[in-house]
Amino acid sequence: MRVYYGAVFGIKAKFLYPEAALVPGEINVNLNPLESFKAAQKQGWAHFAPLETHTTPPAARLVKRAGIRTGDRVLDVACGTGVVATTAARLGARVTGLDLTPELLERARENARIAAVEIEWHEGDVENLPFDDAVFDVVISQYGHIFAPRPDVALAEMLRVLKHGGTIAFSTWPPELFVGRMFALVASYMPPPPPGVSPPTQWGDPTLVRERLGTAVNDILFDRATMLVPALSPEHFRSFTERTAGPMVKLVESLAVSDPSKLAAFRRKYDAIVAEYFEENVVRQDYLITRAKKI
Ligand SMILES: C[S@@+](CC[C@H](N)C(=O)[O-])C[C@H]1O[C@@H](n2cnc3c(N)ncnc32)[C@H](O)[C@@H]1O
Repeated sequence: MRVYYGAVFGIKAKFLYPEAALVPGEINVNLNPLESFKAAQKQGWAHFAPLETHTTPPAARLVKRAGIRTGDRVLDVACGTGVVATTAARLGARVTGLDLTPELLERARENARIAAVEIEWHEGDVENLPFDDAVFDVVISQYGHIFAPRPDVALAEMLRVLKHGGTIAFSTWPPELFVGRMFALVASYMPPPPPGVSPPTQWGDPTLVRERLGTAVNDILFDRATMLVPALSPEHFRSFTERTAGPMVKLVESLAVSDPSKLAAFRRKYDAIVAEYFEENVVRQDYLITRAKKI
């Protein structure tokens, strides 16, 4: 049996090696590499809930761009704590939210309860959606489906469950801007992901997005918007993301034990990039919105 040693979000992993005993901190990888990758994603994103304050305004922007109306059947893919789903449901849409991470779905349920809206929640994987073909009027994802390892599989699923003439819309991080640069920096401190995993920031490149959508859609629209994150200093911002953002949480956990001086070097580089986007106690995070109609 082939053995693959690697890490996902800084979690040490032995892939395809069922006989091996796991040491503390390793994830159970008696699975294939992609399943192991997703298991690590689940762990990495479990602390994301406090970030919902910042993804809430962009959620309203995406819902507006998608043109969601009362009565629409909407699927929010990789919904996290349900900020997009709840926003759409408050407009009178019939909403389903799906995410890999149970801790976030728990918060999503609470968000729907507080907002007094009915939403159907599913724990699941965008690469294998548990829905029939062509049932949704809108399939939407905010900084979410990009984390599926295989873009072609995720996109095929999102388009499969969308009605003909329906809208697909998503917000993504361009590689050359703040969040894209952060992902690249974090990735440069980690072992490479398993073969076949595409970087999430590819979804921030309009040329590639157009190519991926191909002939399945028409009426493609691209737009730019900005997520503003308040912070007292670049270091405050980093400290917050070290506790909440999936890739950062695990990288810092792992380096703190294995190589504190490497962690210090990482933090210096991180703070320097943040400083470029930090002004008047706000970190500016520009992103891409894509919207298209399924043919
Ligand atoms: C940056 S968060 C975005 C959450 C939410 N959409 C928002 O805007 O606040 C990324 C989300 O993707 C989810 N995710 C990652 N891989 C996934 C997969 N293969 N299928 C479903 N959800 C996934 C994570 O659990 C996490 O909730």
